[in-house]
Amino acid sequence: MKKAPLLMLVGLAIAASFVTQSCNKNDNPSTPVVLTLYDSLGGTAMVTDPTNSAVKIEAGRLGIRSVVDSTIFVIAADTAINPYFSVLLSEVGAGNLSGFQELSLNLTDFFCVATGSKNFTYKGLNMTDAHNPATNSRMNGKAAGDDFDAFIADLVIGAHKNAIPDNLIGRIGAIVETLRSQVVQM
Ligand code: HEM
Repeated sequence: MKKAPLLMLVGLAIAASFVTQSCNKNDNPSTPVVLTLYDSLGGTAMVTDPTNSAVKIEAGRLGIRSVVDSTIFVIAADTAINPYFSVLLSEVGAGNLSGFQELSLNLTDFFCVATGSKNFTYKGLNMTDAHNPATNSRMNGKAAGDDFDAFIADLVIGAHKNAIPDNLIGRIGAIVETLRSQVVQM
């Protein structure tokens, strides 16, 4: 994805956000009901976890986890940035999924919190430390600006694989853009 299409999605997201705030009003017109992005992704409604029918999961979290897992697979196949994930990929290649599961959990928690969920906590490294090889030995090198663009492109592919609408992808993209200066460290 080039920057222009993402910018279009972000613009669409801002417009959609305005419409959402304008249209979702309760009985008191002075107190608009503002949906968070997490709400728009499914929110707190409990649904059956497709990976374990005995478990219920918030629909918003399930949507985010699905996008995260799809995106990890897209990144794993993306030679533009998969060398940064060499530790993870060698583990998975050896049949050890523990790092993948932890990354999936951390990224899912991170995006749940970032999109407005109050029910989850991100327990991983801050974004600067997570992307500095000196503080995270799982990060194989410092990312440059074009790596960040490739990451966003892979995230958009992961979101499309899960039928996330473009206006919501744009809102996710807007959040991700705010983190560029912490992730890109060269
Ligand atoms: C805004 C965009 C990004 C977000 C929100 C993000 C988020 C995260 C999070 C939450 C973690 C887990 C930290 C922990 O385990 O404590 C992580 C790890 C990592 N990130 Fe990012 N990241 C972003 C962009 C990137 C980019 C552009 C690259 C490289 C091109 C990258 C490479 C990595 C690597 C290699 C790891 C370690 C994976 C592992 O555990 O094996 N990230 N990131």
